[in-house]
Amino acid sequence: MGRETTALLDRIEELPPLPAVAARVMGMADDNRTSALELAQVLSTDQALTAKLIKISNSAYYGFARRVSTVREAVLVLGFKQVRQVAVGASIMNTFRPSRPDEAFDLDLFWGHSVAVAVAAEAVAKRTRRAKPEDAFTAGILHDIGRLVIRQVKPEKFEAAVALAQTGQCSLHAAELSITGVAHDDVGRALGEKWKFPAHLIDAVAGHHDPRLTLEDDGLSGIIAQCNRWVLHYGLYCGYDLEPAEPTPLPRDLEVIEQACRGIDVVLDRAFSFIESASGTPNRWYAAAG
Ligand SMILES: [Fe+2]
Ligand SMILES: [Fe+2]
Repeated sequence: MGRETTALLDRIEELPPLPAVAARVMGMADDNRTSALELAQVLSTDQALTAKLIKISNSAYYGFARRVSTVREAVLVLGFKQVRQVAVGASIMNTFRPSRPDEAFDLDLFWGHSVAVAVAAEAVAKRTRRAKPEDAFTAGILHDIGRLVIRQVKPEKFEAAVALAQTGQCSLHAAELSITGVAHDDVGRALGEKWKFPAHLIDAVAGHHDPRLTLEDDGLSGIIAQCNRWVLHYGLYCGYDLEPAEPTPLPRDLEVIEQACRGIDVVLDRAFSFIESASGTPNRWYAAAG
């Protein structure tokens, strides 16, 4: 870890806290009848979150015919793990301030990328059974969160890094490291620790740019690293957009993801629908996605 990252992490107390409800819900034991009722009760203490949860339950994201109108019904219809996953995701998404109109970095596209990785990772976890699907979704939402911290702590340098990435000369990952001196995967680890996320989720966030992690051998970390590659392959960049380039063939090792997800369009539609319910209709979306 570089000196700049260490210096930044010394200021970790300035970072946003995890919303109280999300923290409580994260720590709840997996499902049995009592915990389902308890979950509904905890969630009901946050009215804004409750409204979002009900909206998501009734949205195209799930596509249920039955109308859900209370948190208890949502828990009954979707199940404990789904509701917990949606609640944590939606609270994290509303923890950071929106983009300013003059800002090159776009929070809608940041969440577009992150939720697309979450949706893909959930589908891959279901198919391969190499991680719990709800963990895969939450780790997907979280994997690039260190980037929001850098944006908050070093706004000018971060903005210069985004401007460089927008020229298409290098990735934001490379631009950010050379201009801000900080790596968002290291910062993500630190934030995950501050927020007391389980160790395997933190490892997946910290390792998502490690090219050695595979779907076959590395559990949740492998799923997040490879789903991140898959989403980037289709030009769904994290926080910015580029003119669509000539499509290149999908690397063979990513075909498993393609099949588990039934293609990038399905993932993008689901991501859009989730974001729309969790934080409002995005103002910007990927040019390549039409
Ligand atoms: Fe990343
Ligand atoms: Fe990413």
